Parts: sequence; C-alpha cells; structure tokens
Amino acid sequence: MRSLGSVWIAWSVLAVAGCAPPASDAPKRDPAMPGPGAARGERAVAMNRTCEGCHQEIARQWRGSMHQRAHVEPVYQRAFKIEKLAFCQACHAPEADPTQDPTPPVAALGVGCVTCHIAERDVLTVDGHGATKAHRLVPTPAFATAAACASCHEFAFPDSAVRGRVELMQSTVTEHAVSSYKDTSCAQCHMPLRNGLRDHSFGSSRNPIAQRAALTAKAKRVDSGVLIELNLVGVGHAFPTGDLFRRLTVSAQLVGEDTQLLRERTRTLARHFKPRRVGNAAIRELARDDRLFPGQPRRVLLTLGTQSAAHPIVWTVTYDRVEHPLEIGNEGAALAESVELAAGTLAVVEP
Ligand code: HEC
Ligand code: HEC
Ligand code: HEC
Ligand code: HEC
Ligand code: HEC
Repeated sequence: MRSLGSVWIAWSVLAVAGCAPPASDAPKRDPAMPGPGAARGERAVAMNRTCEGCHQEIARQWRGSMHQRAHVEPVYQRAFKIEKLAFCQACHAPEADPTQDPTPPVAALGVGCVTCHIAERDVLTVDGHGATKAHRLVPTPAFATAAACASCHEFAFPDSAVRGRVELMQSTVTEHAVSSYKDTSCAQCHMPLRNGLRDHSFGSSRNPIAQRAALTAKAKRVDSGVLIELNLVGVGHAFPTGDLFRRLTVSAQLVGEDTQLLRERTRTLARHFKPRRVGNAAIRELARDDRLFPGQPRRVLLTLGTQSAAHPIVWTVTYDRVEHPLEIGNEGAALAESVELAAGTLAVVEP
C-alpha cells in the first residue's frame, strides 16, 4: 500500500471523511455505487484535479457536461432559487454539504469524476483491465449497469409524508427496466466508445442532433385534419425522461392566403400533473402520462375542420424544456428552450 504513495494517502482521507447527513426524504444510495450526498467538500475538488491531470481527454469531455454543470447551470439555478432545498443540492452539488451554500469550487465541480468513481475508497471501474500503478481500482461489474446511475436518475418527491405515499419525480431507471432495452446499459447508449474511451460528455438535452435522431414522425392528411405517427428510435426509456418540466409538443397549422393562420391545434406529450390540496399543503399529482415509450408507436390526431383539405397544413414536433415551476401541459407555459425535432408541410389535396 505504501508504494502507492501520496496519491493513495489523500484518497483514504477523502473516503473516510465522506458522509451524508440523514434527512427523511433524502435520496437513497447503495454505498458501493455513486449517488447523492457524498458531501466531501474541498477534498473532492482537490482529488478531482488529480484525475483531470492524468485523464485529460475524459476531463475535457466532462468539463462542460451537464454533470459538471449540474449546480451552476442557469436553468437549475432558477428552479433552485424557488425551491431551495438540501434535497436538490444533494444531487446537483453532491460534494457540497447539502445544508450550506457550496463554495464556488465545489459548486463548479457538480457531479465530478470522484462523485461517480469513488464511492467508498478506491476508483470504481468495470473490469480493471486498465490496471495501473497510479492508483488502485475496484473492478465492479455492476458499475457497467444502470446501478451506476440509479440513485441520482430515479427518486421520489421529497414530501411523501404529506402525500401519504411515494410518488416518483424522475423514473428513468424503472422506465428503462420495463423497456425492450433493459439489457442495454445506460452507458452503452450515453457513453459510446470514442478512441477506445467511454465518452463522458453526456450531451443529451443540449445535443439537438441526438434529439432529432431519437424519433421519426410521419404525417398524413385525414378528413378533418392531420394524423401524425411518432416512433422512438434507440431510446431506452420514456421520451422525454428525467426532469418533470419536459414535454414534446405536436402542432399543426392550417395556412390560408398570404400565410394567414386559419386554425391551429396543439397536443403536448408529457407527464401531466394536477394540483391537489392536502390539509394546508398544495401538491402536484400525476394525472396522466402520455409520453412516448420504446416500441409503442403513437398516433396523434389534430383536427383542423372540414375546410382543411383546401389549404396547406404545416406541422411540427418540438422538444420543450418548460421553465420551472409553471404547469406542464399548459400551452401557455414559458419555455427555457424548444428544439424542433421534425416538421413538414402537406400540400393542398387536388379535388
Ligand atoms: C498519476 C496519474 C493518474 C491519476 C492521478 C489518476 N489516474 Fe486513473 N489511471 C491512470 C492510468 C495510467 C491508468 C491506466 C491506463 C488508462 O486507462 O489510462 C488509469 C486507470 C483508470 C481507470 C480504469 C480504466 C480502465 O480502462 O479500466 C479509471 C476508471 C480511472 N483511472 C479513473 C481515475 C479517477 C476517477 C481518478 C481520480 C480520482 C484517477 N483515475 C486518477 C492514471 C491516473
Ligand atoms: C451523483 C448523481 C448522478 C449520477 C451518479 C449520475 N448522474 Fe446523470 N445527471 C445528474 C444530474 C444532477 C444531472 C442534471 C444536470 C442538470 O441538468 O442540471 C444529470 C444529467 C445527466 C444527463 C444529461 C441530461 C440532459 O437533460 O441533458 C445524462 C444523459 C445523464 N445524466 C446520464 C447519466 C448516466 C448514464 C449515468 C450513469 C452512468 C449518470 N447520469 C449518473 C446526476 C447524476
Ligand atoms: C456520471 C458518472 C461519471 C462521471 C462524472 C465520470 N465517470 Fe468515468 N465512467 C463512468 C462509468 C459508469 C464508466 C464505465 C462505463 C462502462 O464501461 O460501462 C466510466 C469509465 C471511465 C474510465 C474507463 C475507461 C473508459 O473510458 O472506458 C475512465 C478512465 C474514467 N471513467 C475516468 C473518469 C474521469 C477522469 C472523470 C472526470 C473527468 C470521470 N470518469 C467522470 C461514470 C462517470
Ligand atoms: C437504447 C439506448 C438508451 C438507453 C439504454 C438509455 N438511454 Fe437515455 N436516452 C437515449 C436517447 C436516444 C435519448 C434522447 C437523445 C438524447 O437526449 O441524447 C436519451 C435521453 C436521456 C436523458 C435526457 C432527457 C430526455 O429524455 O431528453 C436522460 C437524463 C437519460 N437519457 C438517462 C438515461 C439513464 C439514466 C439510462 C439508464 C437507466 C438511460 N438513459 C438509458 C438512449 C438511451
Ligand atoms: C436524486 C437526485 C436529484 C434530486 C434530489 C434533484 N434533482 Fe434535479 N435533476 C436530477 C437529474 C438526474 C436531472 C437530469 C435529468 C434530465 O435532464 O431530465 C435533473 C434535472 C433537473 C433540471 C433540468 C435542468 C436542465 O438544465 O435542463 C432542473 C431545473 C432540476 N433538476 C431542478 C431540481 C430542483 C429544483 C430540485 C429540488 C427540488 C432537484 N432538481 C432535485 C437529479 C436530481
């Protein structure tokens, strides 16, 4: 052990000092796997710098990823200001003390190399084929499965006591487990091999090319308007998954002379929540989930009236990130960003 030198000693300190303060609805984690509330503070930042120094290509990908930006990202900061809970911080700044504002370096670390790779003492890896004198590895087959992501990418609303039951706020792991992709790991899709290394850039909602490739859309005229068929391509869970405030918007416009808008119809595909009062508390409860699921084609009918055959129809499918905390499913909700996934025009039907 001594031959491993100062690097090893520093890591022991990191491991021993790590502890998560217990809180009733705090997200749970398997101690052998990465997860929320590691709370190792500045020590995690210092250790992360050593990883970055030796693994430079992966470090470049991780910097600027949504993992590194989990706390500093403006969209998160806006939501966090409204609901400033230790619960949120345990995942978005997992190396900070969840009850205190993180110091700037800990905030900028977000979900770091050490957050995912050092659960207990040594560096988690899948099979240890890359053994090195630089540090010890813990070969862990489960690190190649959804278990490596599970305790951050699935969790309940923090008010199950008020609700009287556990209701999931994000359910990506369950959606994946019941899908036809259950035997394909999260990493196989989200960390493709590049130059022999797993890509750590996790582009996803900030990668419109990947988002557009995630579905196909076909539109055809029907008597009263347009029928749009949507199919997922290579998505291993519901789409959109993850954050509550995401949705697909399917819309069609009937266009008159001089591009005048004659009629418009819109459907949002999302988890739709309805408000409920429990005593003095106001909660949001899932009323309906009409997102897309792998292997389940979806037909969306948008009616534009009996005159629709006489005019061109312009249709679009967009991926929207709705601004917290406005209601989802609400057509008037403010959007943080909207990405067009598919679109087309159906010409006038000649009589
Ligand atoms: C002194 C340089 C050095 C430091 C510091 C360092 N590593 Fe490594 N690491 C290596 C080398 C060299 C290898 C073996 C070859 C390779 O995979 O790059 C390796 C291997 C690994 C592997 C296994 C790769 C595989 O293919 O199985 C992982 C995972 C890993 N390091 C993560 C980390 C993390 C996380 C940190 C920070 C806590 C870290 N390393 C710090 C040099 C370093
Ligand atoms: C310590 C907690 C944690 C772990 C472990 C973790 N994630 Fe994340 N992940 C996050 C957080 C927090 C975000 C959101 C950052 C944001 O949007 O502000 C995120 C974002 C992402 C995104 C980007 C989502 C988007 O909308 O762009 C992807 C993809 C992702 N994670 C996949 C994974 C996969 C795959 C694993 C397992 C290999 C994993 N994550 C492990 C916490 C974690
Ligand atoms: C969100 C969690 C997460 C973060 C953050 C993360 N890693 Fe990884 N990393 C993984 C997982 C999971 C694997 C294994 C994927 C597999 O093979 O199934 C992995 C694989 C690796 C490997 C193995 C070699 C390879 O690419 O196949 C190295 C080395 C590595 N990571 C280093 C790092 C370094 C350095 C950082 C920070 C700059 C980092 N990781 C950040 C989850 C993470
Ligand atoms: C079969 C491949 C596949 C598997 C397996 C898979 N995903 Fe995805 N995931 C995708 C695709 C494709 C997208 C949409 C395009 C994009 O955002 O990169 C996506 C999007 C996401 C997003 C962004 C939110 C959204 O819907 O836009 C998150 C977060 C995510 N996946 C997490 C996970 C986690 C965690 C697992 C494992 C439990 C997982 N994924 C398994 C393919 C997969
Ligand atoms: C158990 C871990 C966990 C907890 C607790 C958590 N989040 Fe997240 N959050 C995530 C993950 C993982 C993602 C990425 C999924 C996705 O992109 O859809 C995410 C995504 C987000 C996003 C979308 C960010 C973007 O840039 O698109 C916002 C906003 C957000 N979370 C706010 C919060 C707030 C506010 C709280 C507290 C009320 C909170 N989160 C609690 C794990 C967590």
